[in-house]
Amino acid sequence: MLKVQCVSARFEIVSYNVKQTETIGSCLGSLLEAGDIICLEGNLGAGKTALTRGIAAGWGAREPVTSPTFTLVHEHQRDADTQTLFHIDCYRLHSAADAWHIGLDDLFYGEGPVVIEWPRHIEDIIPAERLWITFTIEDGTQRHLTINAAGQRYNTLLHDLQQTALDRRHNTQK
Ligand SMILES: Nc1ncnc2c1ncn2[C@@H]1O[C@H](COP(=O)(O)OP(=O)(O)O)[C@@H](O)[C@H]1O
Ligand SMILES: [Mg+2]
Repeated sequence: MLKVQCVSARFEIVSYNVKQTETIGSCLGSLLEAGDIICLEGNLGAGKTALTRGIAAGWGAREPVTSPTFTLVHEHQRDADTQTLFHIDCYRLHSAADAWHIGLDDLFYGEGPVVIEWPRHIEDIIPAERLWITFTIEDGTQRHLTINAAGQRYNTLLHDLQQTALDRRHNTQK
């Protein structure tokens, strides 16, 4: 029998304020598994760290996320298990070779999910299968998020994210 699997998918979402961006992040964070890679692309102030704050909260991180512009890798723990959530800010990294030299690629096969701000700076070492979110700043506090899934795991993740976000919206409207 012919089995057809969709291995790439896209989802567009508009956030109207920082709270909504955090909520989208929280939905995503609640679905993450060890080894998941989430890339966040967009200009300064687009909301990458805000989304990460939500991701960490939804994942169950003990400590809130701070903006790690001077720290390359922030690690978070949670009570549920021994996983680590890695939050990497590559703003100051200028090549995949630099990232490779300091062993950043080890994190992709490690003990938890990885969230990467400024992923283009190290794109060559990021596995081809990942979730890639592109932020566009629109008027005022409006942000457009384009979420691209590459690979079966991320296709499933994107599907579950759509469902979780819809459920969350439904429940808050009750
Ligand atoms: N819809 C929105 N989503 C996320 N942040 C928003 C939004 N509207 C306004 N903001 C503001 O934009 C800034 C985003 O900052 P931050 O998340 O640190 O961006 P980045 O990490 O992309 O540089 C914050 O000051 C936040 O309050
Ligand atoms: Mg940031």
